[in-house]
Amino acid sequence: MNTIDRIAEMQAAAKALRDAGKRVAFVPTMGALHAGHLSLIELAKANADAVVMSVFVNPAQFAAHEDLSKYPRPFERDVELAAGGGVDILFHPAAEEMYPQGFQSYVNLEPVSMHFEGAVRPLHFRGVATVVAKLFNIVKPHAAVFGQKDAQQLTLIRQMIKDLAFDVEIIAAPIVREPDGLAMSSRNIYLTPEARAEATVLSQSLGLGKKLIAKSEPSPQVIVSQVRAMIRTQPLAQPDYVAIVSADTFIVAEELRKGETYFLLLAVRFGTTRLIDNLLFTC
Ligand code: PAF
Repeated sequence: MNTIDRIAEMQAAAKALRDAGKRVAFVPTMGALHAGHLSLIELAKANADAVVMSVFVNPAQFAAHEDLSKYPRPFERDVELAAGGGVDILFHPAAEEMYPQGFQSYVNLEPVSMHFEGAVRPLHFRGVATVVAKLFNIVKPHAAVFGQKDAQQLTLIRQMIKDLAFDVEIIAAPIVREPDGLAMSSRNIYLTPEARAEATVLSQSLGLGKKLIAKSEPSPQVIVSQVRAMIRTQPLAQPDYVAIVSADTFIVAEELRKGETYFLLLAVRFGTTRLIDNLLFTC
């Protein structure tokens, strides 16, 4: 595996891959890799001849109160996992390389970035869209893999691709779960043992939602209220939001239409740890 930290060098390597007729798949990450990321690499490998992964903790998607300096950066372990997973090039730029003095261009999507995760993290999605657009210009991938777990990010990136005519295929990777159903996340380590035990209610309540949808429950409001009630059975669980949104627009569904695709979304706080999960379904 080749590790590159300069933009010009990454652009030259990307050009060499394209000139050699290789299809390139890109996996953008902020590092601290876990089994969920490894599944993204697998999907990238299955869809391309060469895999480029970025490990970049993007300052533009952190708010002032979110401690950027505390974000885990186990870089040596990430290098081992990426190489073991079959990544060909690891792009690991410094913050000053990506945002040099005088940087002033940002990509802003509205309204998709304003609700749900965007409501609790106001400039977060502007930071995500900006860095992903810049990374696409550096890595020049044919395809890029994003996890379905960050559903709003996935919808936002698809919208950006459409709006700004990026010639990149977006591949959505299914959510990877622990054996008891908890979606894998770098935040899970912050759960107390009690909260960790209760957190299985997220996937269980999505299971309840899935059953109601399979029984053709027509009302999104009924599904949402039953899912919320199930989450509330756990004393430490504080639902932040439970909602059904269009997978294309992230607008809340007032009714479920045949043939349309939706996310059933959850964000639940356990003390200071906030977990998200979702179910993607087509009616
Ligand atoms: O999902 C993430 O890890 C980040 O938001 C991303 C897409 C790598 C952009 O920094």
